[in-house]
Amino acid sequence: MAKLIDGKAIAAQVKDECRRQAEQLKEQGISICLAVIQVGSDPASSVYVNNKKKACAYCGIESLAYELPEETTQEELIVLVKKLNNDQRVNGILVQLPLPDHMDENAVIHTIAPEKDVDGFHPWSVGALSIGLPGFVSCTPAGIIQLLKRSDIAIEGKQCVVIGRSNIVGKPMAMLLLRENGTVTVAHSRTKNLRELCRQADILIVAMGKPRFITADYIKPGAAVIDVGIHRNENNKLCGDVDFDSVEPVAGAITPVPGGVGPMTIAMLMHNCVCAAKGI
Ligand code: GUN
Repeated sequence: MAKLIDGKAIAAQVKDECRRQAEQLKEQGISICLAVIQVGSDPASSVYVNNKKKACAYCGIESLAYELPEETTQEELIVLVKKLNNDQRVNGILVQLPLPDHMDENAVIHTIAPEKDVDGFHPWSVGALSIGLPGFVSCTPAGIIQLLKRSDIAIEGKQCVVIGRSNIVGKPMAMLLLRENGTVTVAHSRTKNLRELCRQADILIVAMGKPRFITADYIKPGAAVIDVGIHRNENNKLCGDVDFDSVEPVAGAITPVPGGVGPMTIAMLMHNCVCAAKGI
């Protein structure tokens, strides 16, 4: 039976650490402020934005919410981002994605000042990660590293397979595992012999977006399996990209859905906000 990696508990630990650091900064006269911008009223985005505001309140981080109408032009949004770039009170800027179709997400992200890019999406942040310079790291993969470390799962020298090559998860995940001295393979929708490749993994990170796709026959016995997927199954219950019931008896450690990777994303956003206030 696999060890269950409790993302809720580890996220609570990280948020408590951020709260203590925010208190210490306050004693030095430094306050932390995150600006969160949402364009339109996509219900899923509204839930995420609300959770981010709640986490800020818990950690003692001020949050400024900008809820802009769907019809906002890209120019108007860029004007707001530039205003926040120049606002000394604001340490972090987050533009909730996806943006409406009439906007170019890259153009907007590129406008965020790299020192306030707490999502780690700016090319400057991505480049810094790839050449080993300090910078903000995308929250979900950064959270996965914390899940592994705080569960005493060693990365150095291990065969790590990442399924998925998105800019937000797969690619930064591969860079982070490499930084931790893992041996990393990135698989994707065109990968041949995916099952055989996965069966070599000591650490398998699954971010493919296919409900319960990964079954026991993809797993090396004893492997650590991290499930980034989140879907609703036919009974409206949450499930991941990993078929938990089939994989759990074979794996050495596994994240559940919900309560695995999900809570870590916001916890690491809080961590990035503290770093932004400290100037690192
Ligand atoms: N939409 C889904 N996930 C994220 C995230 O981590 N950051 C932002 N800005 N938008 C998202």
